[in-house]
Amino acid sequence: MAARRRRKSHTSRNVSSSVTESYQTIGANMFLGGDNLDSNVILVTSATSGEGKTSTVYHLGIVAAQTGRNVLVVDANLRRPQLHQMFYIENDIGLSGIVGGEKWSECIIKSETPRLYLMPSGPAHENPNMILYSREFTNFLEHCCRQFDLVIIDSPPVLEVSDAIILAPSVGGIVFVIDGKRTSRASARRAISALRHVNGRIIGGVLNRKPKGQYDYHIETLGELQPIERRS
Ligand SMILES: Nc1ncnc2c1ncn2[C@@H]1O[C@H](COP(=O)(O)OP(=O)(O)O)[C@@H](O)[C@H]1O
Ligand SMILES: [Mg+2]
Repeated sequence: MAARRRRKSHTSRNVSSSVTESYQTIGANMFLGGDNLDSNVILVTSATSGEGKTSTVYHLGIVAAQTGRNVLVVDANLRRPQLHQMFYIENDIGLSGIVGGEKWSECIIKSETPRLYLMPSGPAHENPNMILYSREFTNFLEHCCRQFDLVIIDSPPVLEVSDAIILAPSVGGIVFVIDGKRTSRASARRAISALRHVNGRIIGGVLNRKPKGQYDYHIETLGELQPIERRS
């Protein structure tokens, strides 16, 4: 696996221990605690953009790797790739290249966090849906299921494009991120129901930023989403 194309060296992003602890709790509640997933592939999504999907994928990747698992984080947000930035690397190879024949093994990058690997999105592609529906992508996911203990996929927002809906039926669980300051209950409800409609299995919600919190950086696990789904 490649260990190159790093713009500058880093060990990990500076996050406070309370933030790390919050992600540890989320991971433990949702998928690190036991063998409760049908497959070891997890999709992270949200209703709209900017709610904290990429941050969630990155931090969950780190806490999962710290438990001794081999973890791959995949940037399947081919429209607005961001995950590579969290690792300070270029986005010149990745998912978009595999339909053109690039080898997976050459696109997966070893991060500086032990046991944590990244599959960047790669250069923009005019038809992201075509990549997600492709045989190459299905083969890639099947391969990663065997190669890694956990695969965490970043994705575009559910209410803006169909990509997360395409991915939802083929993952073991979905982590749904809600921006407590911005996301309306109606938007969250519509996105959750669209995911459930295609048999997506939502394993938990992440409340990112408290509705009226004093501190902006707040993450918390929403064990069940029924209160949000319920009409008030
Ligand atoms: N809890 C938080 N507190 C403060 N800033 C946050 C928080 N979560 C995310 N951010 C910031 O908000 C922006 C959007 O987050 P990001 O994870 O990129 O969202 P998405 O992937 O859903 O578009 C980023 O600049 C990120 O650093
Ligand atoms: Mg993002």
